[in-house]
Amino acid sequence: MTDNIYWHESSITKKDRQILHGHKSCILWFTGLSGSGKSTIANVVEQQLHQRGISTYLLDGDNVRHGLNADLGFSPEDRSENIRRIGETAKLFVDSGTVVLATFVSPYRVDRQTVRNLVQPNEFVEIYVQCSSKACESRDPKGLYKKARRKEIKEFTGISAPYEEPEHPEITVDSEHFTVQECAEQILKYLSGENIIG
Ligand code: PPS
Repeated sequence: MTDNIYWHESSITKKDRQILHGHKSCILWFTGLSGSGKSTIANVVEQQLHQRGISTYLLDGDNVRHGLNADLGFSPEDRSENIRRIGETAKLFVDSGTVVLATFVSPYRVDRQTVRNLVQPNEFVEIYVQCSSKACESRDPKGLYKKARRKEIKEFTGISAPYEEPEHPEITVDSEHFTVQECAEQILKYLSGENIIG
């Protein structure tokens, strides 16, 4: 596939772009069950970062599946390809000097590890949005759990498809027992502590 294809270095580097922006760039990878609060928490974190003058971009599962990954479903193979493409996209954002927030169920450890391996060790922050499947099902903001129970959706994560919990995430937020604001604060505190943001 890569025969006759050559890599071009650009004269402006990632470092140059980070200096221009005045901050580091990285991937904030939110993983968790559908309805766990990934997008809601990431939105609050993004707002806070934006207010502090940080260049951000949010890649969201539902949105990306409308465009870039509109050809993919929810089989294990399609989910892996979904995460692979998102990982490559997120890497480009990191190269552009942006803090990219990625909110995907990303149920398989191996796929999350693949994304982690694409960037430098300090450029991948795995954020596990922890919430029991029982609590997610009772929230059911999109009515998907009901459909999954009626077998109208196959391979639904937490019901008829697996979710592999992160073993060593940089951050775990407990969205079942803490508010969206509290979870966002916990993430921002970590990012300040790690000098990712000022
Ligand atoms: S994955 O597993 O990472 O490839 O999934 P992702 O791209 O994040 O897409 C998850 C959103 O798609 C909706 N949806 C499903 N989720 C899980 N399993 C099945 N079978 C499924 N079918 C549709 C659902 O709205 C997910 O969004 P969130 O925001 O997580 O609720």
